[in-house]
Amino acid sequence: MTFPADFLFGSATSAYQIEGGVREDGRTPSIWDTFCHTPGKVLSGDHGDIAVDHYHRWREDVGLMAELGLDAYRFSVSWPRVQPTGRGPAVQRGLDFYRALVDELLERGITPWVTLYHWDLPQELENAGGWPERITAERFADYATLVGEAVGDRVTDWTTLNEPWCSAFLGYGSGVHAPGHTDHAAALRAAHHLNLAHGLGTQALRAVLPARARLGISLNPAVVRASTDAPGDLDAQRRIDGLANRIFEGPLLRGAYPKDLLADTARITDWGFVRDADLATIKQPLDMLGVNYYTPFLVSADTESRTVERHDGHGASERSPWPGAAQVAFHQTPGPTTEMGWTVDPTGLYELLLRYRREARGVPLYITENGVACDDKTAADGTVHDPDRIAYLHDHLAVVERAIADGVDVRGYFLWSLLDNFEWSYGYSKRFGLVYVDFETQDRTPKSSAAWYTQLTRTHTFPPAKPFP
Ligand code: FCB
Repeated sequence: MTFPADFLFGSATSAYQIEGGVREDGRTPSIWDTFCHTPGKVLSGDHGDIAVDHYHRWREDVGLMAELGLDAYRFSVSWPRVQPTGRGPAVQRGLDFYRALVDELLERGITPWVTLYHWDLPQELENAGGWPERITAERFADYATLVGEAVGDRVTDWTTLNEPWCSAFLGYGSGVHAPGHTDHAAALRAAHHLNLAHGLGTQALRAVLPARARLGISLNPAVVRASTDAPGDLDAQRRIDGLANRIFEGPLLRGAYPKDLLADTARITDWGFVRDADLATIKQPLDMLGVNYYTPFLVSADTESRTVERHDGHGASERSPWPGAAQVAFHQTPGPTTEMGWTVDPTGLYELLLRYRREARGVPLYITENGVACDDKTAADGTVHDPDRIAYLHDHLAVVERAIADGVDVRGYFLWSLLDNFEWSYGYSKRFGLVYVDFETQDRTPKSSAAWYTQLTRTHTFPPAKPFP
């Protein structure tokens, strides 16, 4: 076998991207509902009102997962479905939905992985200041308690936040994500309060979960490469590494923000919102670390002072998502690209796994997201043939295999995504699924990559794949 017998093969989704049912059973709007219904924010005016109707088709979707032979399924809980307005008691019907989903997964032998926050903040909490305010982190801990109490008897694997970088810097910095603010000081405050939410949320979960529970967080660490070894380019690399990676790793793993990050951003904020006790709260023991990886960054010193389109991977904005890095230019990494325009470079994933073996010593690693958007089309016979996705998956899983052989403790891989779905500011224009979804009829058709992945999950050995074109 190429992969260890206990290596976990799963797939991932998130609530707002698949559920729909946004006005049902007491759910209130999240910042993504508001953002989508603000003209000009999302391509084609798309929104998650219906999404792929998973709120009604969840049983059929779990059936698909079982057919695919998935060992595990990573999904997120919609905060405004469980705790409308973000404060007070839980709504029973919201909790019931997730309890039923978890029971069905367990019944089918699929391990549920719960993410508490995948970007859908209750709008009322945003109205009260959102992530730039400390109160949001405190509210998050209450919400974590509610979900922990409801499904903690059945769910062992938990991650607090998905990609806090995106919440902070795309949500409050470049504004390409909800709530769409463009304020660099607010983005830095948001990053800290997301870190704090992880710490408070982890403490809250530990208080209500059985000892066997495993807690962690999913980051989207950036592989940042400098275009040359010139000091200016290396400094650009250091800055972006600070803003993308060490701003989270520092407090999470070492209990401190990096000094160079504080210096780089000193003109924007004095970081006075960080209270002494916060750092100890954030540095909770991790039972696992989730790594999400898609593509690397290539940077250099920008000698001309100009507004460039920043490659943050999630849409272009006049405003950079990177506070204090006006003199950094982003370039397209050479190589083939996906439908997102992201360069395919599996070596980046290998580098990340080595990074966290070093930085998060002793913490088991999981790839909690990796996958590719392709220009998938239904053929005349109704099948969907996606050899490029097979190639991408093969090449990324091959470096995971290599990392394991090199002694890195990587224990599982969650493919993004189970279903074609709502891809944030790109709406429904980008297809990441193993399963094709006709967004009109909601019909689901497993693509050829699904058959390939199924064979891998069953045999733990690579089926044949062509190279990425
Ligand atoms: C990640 C997000 C996920 C999806 C993929 C393509 O950054 O966590 O929801 O949009 O990108």
